[in-house]
Amino acid sequence: MRIFSGIQPTGQKHLGNYIGAIRQFVEGQDRGEAIYCIVDLHAITVPFRPDELRDNVLDTAAVLLAAGLEPERGRCILFRQSDVREHTELTWLLCAVTAHGDLNRMTQFKEKSAKQRELVSAGVFLYPVLQAADVLIYRAEEVPVGDDQRQHVELMRDVAQRFNERFGETLVVPRHRIPEVGARVMDLQSPEQKMSTTFGTEGGTLQIRDSDDEMRRKIRSAVTDSGREVTRGPGKEGISNLIEISAVLRGVSPEDVEREFAGAGYGDFKSAVAETVVEALAPIRERYLELVADRAGLERILADSADRARSMASGTLAEVRDRMGVGPPG
Ligand code: TYM
Repeated sequence: MRIFSGIQPTGQKHLGNYIGAIRQFVEGQDRGEAIYCIVDLHAITVPFRPDELRDNVLDTAAVLLAAGLEPERGRCILFRQSDVREHTELTWLLCAVTAHGDLNRMTQFKEKSAKQRELVSAGVFLYPVLQAADVLIYRAEEVPVGDDQRQHVELMRDVAQRFNERFGETLVVPRHRIPEVGARVMDLQSPEQKMSTTFGTEGGTLQIRDSDDEMRRKIRSAVTDSGREVTRGPGKEGISNLIEISAVLRGVSPEDVEREFAGAGYGDFKSAVAETVVEALAPIRERYLELVADRAGLERILADSADRARSMASGTLAEVRDRMGVGPPG
């Protein structure tokens, strides 16, 4: 089975990325042929600094390697999107079978364009088509993502189906893999919104790079409610979030966590969650700090993977061009 997913090289990676996606990327290496991409071309659809973009790509690569991706041992492919130019060409070709109305309905497009103070780029609008091209060019069957990417995966399914109907069976229609628990980690300070680098609060976003003490401080000052039961439910978004975080990181169910902390106060519960988080993330942070110092080594890993990715992508692109009558006959 072929698995594909992408992650943006924007800012720092946080606990939501780790729980919703990166953990799944790591275990995907055991379940199939896993292909992961750092999507620098998606990152240029919102305001960005050219001098930071390259660094952010390497930074994200170091986080993923630290979390357990092993491209050097052939267990996955981990490359930079812009190194495989086939993605961008396929994006344009897929625009022919993408409905303008569908792109207009995308929640992330609406949110991002509403919050943009400067130019709302055409790239923000076309973002989901590039994302569709990322997956479809590898004929991947499964796309591990967090809940916020559900709509984008739906769109790529529609695009693949429409292409196949119009030009003949060519593309694989992928399905999402969204974890049952932890698919939407919420902001610790504002638990009705998802944890997010771009839109989240400073204190509510737990970065993988945070020190142990920063992590403890953020969890202990997480916003909760005026009740005292460690249970999930309406009006208890903050506590529900901490229960889910704890369950995923310890490999138990949320019900197990509720049972374990029945009768405990919020303070004790938060301290326990803080220790769980530190235990899970501190080793990753330490490995990250070693890896990120070796820029040339990271570039080499990305370049090797890009060669492998390109050889897979070029076959699909040639077939798509041929089906569409683009270019000389194949
Ligand atoms: P990005 O970089 O925003 O996020 C990377 C992954 O992290 C997940 N995620 C979360 N999961 C749980 N709780 C949260 N608070 C949280 N925040 C983020 C996201 O769902 C995602 O899986 N458009 C994609 C990148 C992309 C892609 C692709 C993904 C480009 N091409 C092809 C899959 C397939 C994005 O912006 O991810």
